[in-house]
Amino acid sequence: MVIAVDGPAGAGKSTVCRRLAKALGAVYLDTGAMYRAVAWALDKRGMADAPDERIRSELAALPLEFRMEGEGLAVYWQGKPLGDEIRTPSVSRTASLVSQRRPVRDFLTRLQRDLARGRDVVVEGRDMTTVVFPDAELKVFLTASDRVRAERRWAEYRQKGLSADLEEILRQIQERDAADSQRSLAPLRPGEGAIIVDTSDLSIDQVVEQLARLAFEARKKA
Ligand code: DC
Repeated sequence: MVIAVDGPAGAGKSTVCRRLAKALGAVYLDTGAMYRAVAWALDKRGMADAPDERIRSELAALPLEFRMEGEGLAVYWQGKPLGDEIRTPSVSRTASLVSQRRPVRDFLTRLQRDLARGRDVVVEGRDMTTVVFPDAELKVFLTASDRVRAERRWAEYRQKGLSADLEEILRQIQERDAADSQRSLAPLRPGEGAIIVDTSDLSIDQVVEQLARLAFEARKKA
């Protein structure tokens, strides 16, 4: 069974999906991490803005590996696990750019379907309900107001001991939303039949509970 979840940054997707997968005994596939890993690797090879054809052949040759292990995705570079290297602001920027490239999307779409095959999986990203798994048993679009998302990001920075300006974060979120929903390839929008869940006034527990209920109903129907 595939549970596909899309939504903008800061809607709570990662936390919710990880917990939902655990509650359902499913595995969790964070496809943003795959875009980040590819961005990191292409950048390392100096290929992040190469022409499509060069990117296409480079992708086939990169010593990058994606495996489902334990509770979810593990990424390896030259046989060694990749971790927080892909979570930097610089990788976020590169990922946002390379995720607009056709060869990258084709490459990762195929891998995402392969990784999900034969598994109960919660997949999370920007085009899960539209492009990659349009026939998923359950499709959800998680969202929240831009201000609430900015406040969550701000609180995360504070927790890590980083200083951050709320209005600046809000501006970045609005810019990113506009870019993600207006891009020509796989723009961010809810897939047909996706259930829209606004998490602005909900706790994480409440969202997980609501999705678990929806998953239970979908499983009964499947
Ligand atoms: O969710 P995230 O911030 O880790 O995603 C990193 C980047 O990858 C972000 O720019 C959105 C993009 N992305 C995408 O285009 N399609 C996906 N399925 C997942 C992420």
